[in-house]
Amino acid sequence: MATAPPRPSEAVSLSAWQLIAATAVGSVAAGMATYFVLKHESTRRKERQERKEGGSPPVANAKGAAAAATGAAAGGSSLAPIAYTEGLGPAKHILVTGGAGFIGSHTVVELLEAGYRVTVVDSLVNASAESIKRVIALTKKAGMVSLIVADLCDEDALDRVFKTAGHFDACIHFAGLKAVGESVAKPVLYYNNNLVGTFNLIDAMRRHGCSNLVFSSSATVYGNAEIPYTEGSKTGSGVTNPYGRTKYFIEEVLQDVARTEWGSKWGICILRYFNPVGAHASGQLGEDPNGIPNNLMPYIAQVCVGRREKLTVFGDDYDTADGTGERDYIHVVDLAKGHVASLRYLESHVGTDAKAPGVCEVFNLGSGKPTSVLQLVKAMEVACGKPIPREFGARRAGDLPCFYADTGKAAELLGWRTELSVADMCADTWRWQSKNPQGFATPKE
Ligand SMILES: NC(=O)c1ccc[n+]([C@@H]2O[C@H](COP(=O)([O-])OP(=O)(O)OC[C@H]3O[C@@H](n4cnc5c(N)ncnc54)[C@H](O)[C@@H]3O)[C@@H](O)[C@H]2O)c1
Repeated sequence: MATAPPRPSEAVSLSAWQLIAATAVGSVAAGMATYFVLKHESTRRKERQERKEGGSPPVANAKGAAAAATGAAAGGSSLAPIAYTEGLGPAKHILVTGGAGFIGSHTVVELLEAGYRVTVVDSLVNASAESIKRVIALTKKAGMVSLIVADLCDEDALDRVFKTAGHFDACIHFAGLKAVGESVAKPVLYYNNNLVGTFNLIDAMRRHGCSNLVFSSSATVYGNAEIPYTEGSKTGSGVTNPYGRTKYFIEEVLQDVARTEWGSKWGICILRYFNPVGAHASGQLGEDPNGIPNNLMPYIAQVCVGRREKLTVFGDDYDTADGTGERDYIHVVDLAKGHVASLRYLESHVGTDAKAPGVCEVFNLGSGKPTSVLQLVKAMEVACGKPIPREFGARRAGDLPCFYADTGKAAELLGWRTELSVADMCADTWRWQSKNPQGFATPKE
């Protein structure tokens, strides 16, 4: 756990580290994209062992391996200057943790389109570097984005990210494990990954002078509060799983940080997402869960492409419009734009009031409208043009009948509201899933 006090910055020692500049291939022109892959010696040892046994390193491709060999020959220390040789300009530099994941990758697209420069830090525990290659191909802004493979729970690795990647104007913190069922089975894993990763991030930000933070929270913190949820609704009561409690605890930690002498100068936005679905309109980016999807929409999408036989709808006797559970679905691109709006909010509010220099605000990011499971299934049938096999099952323990957001605060203070409909969410999900039936692992034609 991160307990080290602030310490002065020191020269980066690469003795126990390997920096690989891996050049993206495939649809991205050679030389356009630069990735940094930062690995600890223990990881390298494991990979070397795996290679001996016939395995391959997780990220580096043929060109990356060649670059790595060159780097190693040069003592591995020649890589920092390669990082940002183009496209720097006056762009603000944003650290995006977990940026290779579903919401993160869509947000990186919106950040690049809005003129920000981005460094993604992701352990790739639930993502693929392919998502960032596709972000680069879509935006054609290779010089403006880097991916560093590192785990936030590795305090030293994170420190080196801050030392090597340059000053960050703000951080958007997506990195975390998010599977509700897995969190019930492995609570310590979830508390460790989500909480320790966040503590390390806060410490590193403080040490390296980055004081604007946007945090991915969830509507799950509202537990059994009354609907619609407003930002002032009670939180933390009736949260039924460790995943949800990690979000609640981190929110509390951030509120405590904002009450400290140093933290009171920080800009913090806590964003409570409702139910993010959909995909980039290009069909090149989307949700790519490991194993059996936990969430409804990716499950439906996999039924549509024949990866799953049928959908089970849990509960048809709720007190809702058609008896099935109702949720507040939000298109991931609208959600991504909510992050850009939050950064803009911090840029224009932090430091403007001498008596209250910092900002710590909570925002609901949802559509404000409930949609039932059956309504979503029917909209998806329209999008994919075929019936979706389904059956009804019993209610699941812990599932609420209905919840949705009051979105007034985000509209008023961020000037943000959703623009895309449930039909858009389904059309874009179908485009992504039909073009990529196996997600990012789908072989290229
Ligand atoms: N998708 C949803 O339904 C939803 C709803 C509410 C909140 N959220 C939150 O939003 C965030 C992003 O969600 P997502 O759907 O994009 O999930 P995701 O799993 O696709 O993305 C999370 C990313 O974080 C990375 N990661 C996890 N632990 C890490 C660590 N210790 N160090 C570095 N990287 C790490 C993963 O590899 C992954 O790329 C998460 O914090 C999630 O809890 C998601």
